Amino acid sequence: MENLILAIETSCDETAASVIRNGNEILSSVVASQIESQKRFGGVVPEIASRHHVEQITIVIEEALEKANVVPSDLDAVAVTEGPGLVGALLIGINAAKAFAFAHGLPIIGVHHIAGHIYASALVEPLQFPLLALVVSGGHTELVYMKGHGSFEVIGETRDDAAGEAYDKVARVLNLPYPGGPHIDRMAHEAEKGVDFPRAWLEDTYDFSFSGLKSAVINYKHNLEQRGQEIIPEEIAKGFQDSVVEVLTTKTVKAAKELGVKQVIVAGGVSANRGLRESLQKALDQEGIPFTAPPLSLCTDNAAMIGACAAYMYEAGVRGDLSMNGLPGKEL
Ligand code: KG4
Ligand code: ZN
Repeated sequence: MENLILAIETSCDETAASVIRNGNEILSSVVASQIESQKRFGGVVPEIASRHHVEQITIVIEEALEKANVVPSDLDAVAVTEGPGLVGALLIGINAAKAFAFAHGLPIIGVHHIAGHIYASALVEPLQFPLLALVVSGGHTELVYMKGHGSFEVIGETRDDAAGEAYDKVARVLNLPYPGGPHIDRMAHEAEKGVDFPRAWLEDTYDFSFSGLKSAVINYKHNLEQRGQEIIPEEIAKGFQDSVVEVLTTKTVKAAKELGVKQVIVAGGVSANRGLRESLQKALDQEGIPFTAPPLSLCTDNAAMIGACAAYMYEAGVRGDLSMNGLPGKEL
């Protein structure tokens, strides 16, 4: 494969641009985070996200081209996250991509955000099909089966909260800053023992549920408070993380064995979680199934993953046009 792609990602609270060569070489990857300004609201406020994107997008694109030492005429295509995500946020990236594509006579490729997360692993090593991807982010928890490039079959998904959402909500209960995932991860490693919280197995399905666990954490803390007993946040964090990690690992390994996949990959912001990476690595090693976890910088939102995915779409002849619109509920 030979192509050079400028990729743009603005689906949530990171303004990102990247230049990717041949689907696996990162010439540049620039991510402007809004975490600092969203922190005081305890989550992402869509209006504020859009404003940040407007302020950052041109700077981020220019920086990505400069760092890659690339001029627009070198490029084969512009790729952009089409959805899912916050519609106002998506539209900033899409309009920037359209303007760039129009000005420089380039084709435009619309990429699914979750497909992008999955293709972060293609920046680490070639994907081996059939594969199983565990996608765990702030908005998604899905097991995706892939027979080949561009073929996605969702075999399981959350019935309520996404894994990252559960992390962020539990973090809020523990008065930790947004986003809470990394704080819970750190605290879980500091605890000697964890509180024994339930596991939502949902028998005979690859679906997940995390809202019951979240309620169990809230009730546990409330009960201790009522009785005037000491609350040890680290033990709550560990108990919560152990429950999430055990269910995610068990279901992923079961599906991987049943489907006979050649590779398992983990994707999305929660895949930065140390406990989850270690647990999946250990369980898949035991089964002799190769496992790929991208470096932390490629787990959370970035544009390099969008460029990697777009490179394969470009090869397959996929082209969008200037009628592209933001698709907040885009299906995989
Ligand atoms: O993929 P991502 O950057 O954005 C979405 O597309 O949602 O994922 C963000 C989510 C947040 O919920 C954040 O708390 C979680 O990923 N996260 C983590 C860790 N790092 C980020 N969750 C658990 N452990 C971590 N180390
Ligand atoms: Zn994401």
